[in-house]
Amino acid sequence: YRAGVLGRRPRVPADFGELERLARRASSAVAWAYVAGGAGEGRTMRRNREAFERWAIVPRMASGAVERDLSVELLGQRHATPLLLAPVGAGALMGDDSDLHIARAAAATGTTYVLSNQGCNPMEDCAAAMGDASRWFQLYWSKDEGLVDSLIGRAEAAGAGALVVTLDTTVLGWRPQDLNLGSLPFSRGVGIAQYTSDPRFRQIVAERLGRPAARPQVTLGALRTLLAMSRNHPGRFLANLRSPVPRASVETFLDIYSNPGLSWDHLATLRERTRLPIVLKGILHPDDARRAFDLGADAIVVSNHGGRQVDNAVASLGALAGIREAVGPGPALLLDSGIRSGADVFTALALGANAVLLGRPYMYGLALDGQRGVEDVIRNVIAELDLTMALAGTPDIASITRDRLTHT
Ligand code: FNR
Repeated sequence: YRAGVLGRRPRVPADFGELERLARRASSAVAWAYVAGGAGEGRTMRRNREAFERWAIVPRMASGAVERDLSVELLGQRHATPLLLAPVGAGALMGDDSDLHIARAAAATGTTYVLSNQGCNPMEDCAAAMGDASRWFQLYWSKDEGLVDSLIGRAEAAGAGALVVTLDTTVLGWRPQDLNLGSLPFSRGVGIAQYTSDPRFRQIVAERLGRPAARPQVTLGALRTLLAMSRNHPGRFLANLRSPVPRASVETFLDIYSNPGLSWDHLATLRERTRLPIVLKGILHPDDARRAFDLGADAIVVSNHGGRQVDNAVASLGALAGIREAVGPGPALLLDSGIRSGADVFTALALGANAVLLGRPYMYGLALDGQRGVEDVIRNVIAELDLTMALAGTPDIASITRDRLTHT
């Protein structure tokens, strides 16, 4: 903030509109369709933003506080701020070694990074890049129960502070932008690094082939995706070309990465399968929220997956207050989908969230300036939250309450 006031022009714009515009310019059509796109006609994505417009902050004056304390306690751990990085798969579309850059940026800013099950670097490599910094691991419930256990075991060994199970993607949503370009990244092997680095997954591939995993085959589709990715990192094109993912791995991934039959009975087995705190992500109905906590979940994420799964779904922010009312003041609620600024974080906290996750904005920072770009986006959101708290008369997170808002 000071640097900006003193006249240094940042590489990453301080407002979301400009950030989005520049990131789009820096990205291929294929990468932009996947990362920025949403389900169907984009109504859920738009509604996520409109929901924030329905609320206005009512600043209170002369609180007398000089400093703000942005820290929060989540799952028994102190976090420097109520902002976490959401799990985002196929990040390599926005730049090579995406997850390593994000991991380093998270560590440098003291922000918890939720590693995606569909990440582009093995979780062990991300953990090594983060040292002692806080990370959680996000799991899609595979059709193969052995793979579920293997991924959980690896997350524990890689120092994850929580296991986030995403419930809203038992099948992939209807995403016309990707379909029209014929460009879903997973079908080209982008975003399957947690799988190809997994012993149980490799065993499944080998069993299917009846022999150890075969030589890589470069398909036309894979070439197209590699070309699209190399727009962000031209020097890496040849290196990527030399180590393409075998087609059998991609096909196996598509078959088993998620279980369309996922039920509360599956989730009921979680408690005895891991010692990690359990977070269930993708909940929008108060009854599902209650059920999650009855089952022993430690937290939930109120989320519609950034508007990427069900078109014309309820906004995450729209669902939040009802869920808080249903579960009472105690349980930990996180929110994502549509957070774009510090003022948005303030609004979500006032409506009952304990913390929020940021998705696309940090990916846009990555597209513009790698690790530094991610750091800038995080710092901008936190700085604006800090200033909003200063100007609204809320010296700490606990003082951001419902009565700080009014309907517009
Ligand atoms: C996601 N999201 C997601 N969620 C998840 O649980 N596992 C994943 O692998 C992914 N992958 C993913 C890829 C991309 C490109 C996007 C944009 C999103 C959803 C993500 O965690 C989060 O819920 C939303 O991104 C939050 O909404 P905003 O901040 O993007 O509006």
